[in-house]
Amino acid sequence: MSHKLAPIICPSILSADFATLAADSNKMLELGATWLHVDVMDGHFVNNITIGPPVVKSLRKHTKGFLDCHLMVSHPSKWIHDFIEAGADNITFHYESENGDLASTQHVLSLIHEENKKQGKDCKASIVVKPKTPVDVLFPLLDVNSSSHENIFMVLIMSVEPGFGGQAFMSDQMEKVRVLRERYPSLNIQVDGGITEETVVEAAKAGANVVVSGSAIFKSPNPQHTMRVMRETILQHLGNNQ
Ligand code: DX5
Ligand code: ZN
Repeated sequence: MSHKLAPIICPSILSADFATLAADSNKMLELGATWLHVDVMDGHFVNNITIGPPVVKSLRKHTKGFLDCHLMVSHPSKWIHDFIEAGADNITFHYESENGDLASTQHVLSLIHEENKKQGKDCKASIVVKPKTPVDVLFPLLDVNSSSHENIFMVLIMSVEPGFGGQAFMSDQMEKVRVLRERYPSLNIQVDGGITEETVVEAAKAGANVVVSGSAIFKSPNPQHTMRVMRETILQHLGNNQ
């Protein structure tokens, strides 16, 4: 087993009560969450509006948790400065956003690294693909990323169409996870959408070490148990995929 990869459980605060966001977030960390997943939607890239940098900034004051920001916005380049200033620990942006090509993706990655230097921060940079986007579009970026993965911290494979919580898990997306894991044994691979105590098995088997879960954790009668099951399931399969 690679010593680098660990199971990472990310409750999506999209399923929290926004009026008690800090308390809900810290509660999840106490109950075993590794990161807090922050779903940012602009009503343009996806058909929903959620939260932006001011909320991240407020939350930052009330939690030490790792803020994993998933940007579902058309022009992430416009917002990198603000999210890093607000205290994001990771920014994951969509390959399909900006111009939806390699050059614009590389540009957004560079912006994150430049902004870190300017602000003296260490926000990670990650990329996500929607269900209809083939994963091999990312190979040119990941191949030059080398084994250190300094440039790209994580790849997120969506297992629902982005936009809403509570949708059904798309098993067919796990093939992308398998392909990525085989090619990049030490890359953080995250799966987001429809993850439950049951579907996490498919994600873990395919090689994901990071899972996002909104409804299944927040609506669980025992979120601590649900997160423990998810962690143990990933741990159980980590060795088989490396
Ligand atoms: C969907 C979001 C997800 C969502 C997951 O666009 O990216 O993070 O909150 O919620 P569940 O786990 O309910 O599918
Ligand atoms: Zn998300």
